[in-house]
Amino acid sequence: KNVAVFASGSGSNFEAIMNSIKNGELDAQVSLVVCDKPGAKVIERAAKFGVDSFVISPKNFENKAAYETEITKKLLDKEIEFIVLAGYMRLIGGTLLSQFKGKIVNIHPSLLPSFPGLDAVGQAYRAGVKVTGVTIHYVDEGMDTGPIIEQAVVSITNDDTIETVEKKIHEVEHKLYPKTLQTIFLQEK
Ligand code: GRF
Repeated sequence: KNVAVFASGSGSNFEAIMNSIKNGELDAQVSLVVCDKPGAKVIERAAKFGVDSFVISPKNFENKAAYETEITKKLLDKEIEFIVLAGYMRLIGGTLLSQFKGKIVNIHPSLLPSFPGLDAVGQAYRAGVKVTGVTIHYVDEGMDTGPIIEQAVVSITNDDTIETVEKKIHEVEHKLYPKTLQTIFLQEK
């Protein structure tokens, strides 16, 4: 599969995906990183792996459709077949959803449908739940609502802080995302 990774921030999941491709665990090619935040660390990480970044600010467009039309052009130009959201802090709109129907997945740091939206780790921590986790799901028009593909559990103990929970969640994500993508891509072939 020829893949684009969409990210807004650090890009540690992007890096985990790239490392899995390098060591042969994930059979895919990442040809593009789409980033809506100029200066985000993921852009540096992409350069390190020799992956092109397409940095595009929504504020330069009249509306989401115009913004996504510009992204779609770039994706078609690069012959992208599948979109992997990895910390892309924006809802996907109708333009991308119709162009890439059933071909967009997201990773979310909670056991959905619990704690959708921003700061899912903080939400879980403050709710006092003893188990949280990671969800990988297909993307629809809602906020973290599409069909669930895979989940993994992370426990929260009395010794945990938000930071230690975040660390545990990231460790799980970095294994689960490449592994799940491999399963999805094998099924699609
Ligand atoms: C991850 O926790 C992911 O679940 C969420 O955003 C975070 C991205 O982290 N959607 P990174 O940019 O991959 O380090």
